[in-house]
Amino acid sequence: MSMNGYISVEQSLNLSGSVNLVGAKNAALPIMASLILTTGKSVLHLVPASADIWKMIDLLSDLGAKIKFDSEKNRLEFDGSSIDKVEVSHEVMDRMRASILVMGPLLARFKKARAAFPGGCLIGARPIDFHLNGFEKLGAKITRDKNLIYAVMDEKSNQNRKIVFEYPSVGATENIVMFATMQQGETKIINAALEPEVLDFIDALRKMGADIKFELPATIIITGVKTLNPIEHTIIPDRLEAGALLLAAAITGGQVELPDANSDHMDLFLEKLKLMGHKLEIGFNSRNGKKVGIRLIATKNPKAVNIKTCPYPGFPTDLQSPMMAALCLANGVGLVEETVFENRLMHVKELEKMGAQISVENSKATVNGVEGLYGANVIASDLRASVALVIAGLAAEGETKVFGINHWRRGYDKLEDKLKKLGAKIEVVEG
Ligand code: UD1
Repeated sequence: MSMNGYISVEQSLNLSGSVNLVGAKNAALPIMASLILTTGKSVLHLVPASADIWKMIDLLSDLGAKIKFDSEKNRLEFDGSSIDKVEVSHEVMDRMRASILVMGPLLARFKKARAAFPGGCLIGARPIDFHLNGFEKLGAKITRDKNLIYAVMDEKSNQNRKIVFEYPSVGATENIVMFATMQQGETKIINAALEPEVLDFIDALRKMGADIKFELPATIIITGVKTLNPIEHTIIPDRLEAGALLLAAAITGGQVELPDANSDHMDLFLEKLKLMGHKLEIGFNSRNGKKVGIRLIATKNPKAVNIKTCPYPGFPTDLQSPMMAALCLANGVGLVEETVFENRLMHVKELEKMGAQISVENSKATVNGVEGLYGANVIASDLRASVALVIAGLAAEGETKVFGINHWRRGYDKLEDKLKKLGAKIEVVEG
């Protein structure tokens, strides 16, 4: 991990103001990958200019796609007509785990693909067995050579078209859906992930002409079509950026308004903020005939709550560390249990450097609220941890330096400017 540069955060009480959200990175990435299935020009709006998106642009351009990205307007133009390569390099896979997402659409369109195993990741083993087993069940022949994975459609294979996931993996669900959209006949995914980002991705695929249905309790049924068409699509607002901004206002005793936030994507998280004592106003705005908008007015005396991360609609793992930052300064004891990733409590020891009192046993953390935090030099272990430490830094006395700005850049599009607009003293110091 590059240690060059850091985010300098000084105590900034009463953050207040109104902020527009960018689109969700985790919806934009699979939607960009799915455009491999189309020929002709597509346009995506609200694409966040974060480092992961730039990496996906590089990857898709390397395969031959023509892409124009206006990072100021968050508008991306894509033409997949000229894609002529099915090999993703090891370097690219190493830099971004989500690059595995191009394997499904490449296999669907070109009947073959080559990828590499994604690089190690700090928040757990993060295997890709669900993806590969799914491709195999749908008729692909998978072979491995050291770090490389080759997949070829095996015409003779006897296809069993029911994929049963042991766990509702977001990426594996998206990959199998893309693969199945152009396979003749019907494919069922049992125990599919149904995160709002997955639903936005399916919405985009349906616009392309894909035949995708849902069945209770968590089944996706895909009927293959011959061709998919280019689309124009607006990415859903980022619930994780929304969560970060709400927590920044909550921990500093301020007020924030997110006029385009969709509260339906974050019910349990909002419920927990209410239980802490924060006041929330939902749906004060309307967009396309739908009520949207979230306003938070922070209590100065928040109460601790317990959270347990789960697949959607449970508490999102990506908001676990930012929420923990807020719990450090709440009254009482908050229990935090991480069930999605096995090693996602690395921020605990960094929060402790700032004066937090937390004890960890396996994947459970007990957070004892303290009166105050103080600035320290801390290290972000993943992108969500970088936000958690910035949030803690906003409430901590003195200066906090959060190292690992590459994580911050990976997941967020100028979030520092949005926080500044609310009154935060934050500066990204390039190394
Ligand atoms: C996506 C999100 C990430 C979020 C995560 C969980 C993107 C680009 N990233 O990641 O921000 O934290 O969902 O909501 O959308 N697993 C396996 N085998 C597999 C695949 C997954 O065992 O083949 C396990 C993982 O190790 C993990 C769990 O399933 O424990 C969930 O992972 P998954 O939903 O696949 O996460 P990602 O799609 O990588």
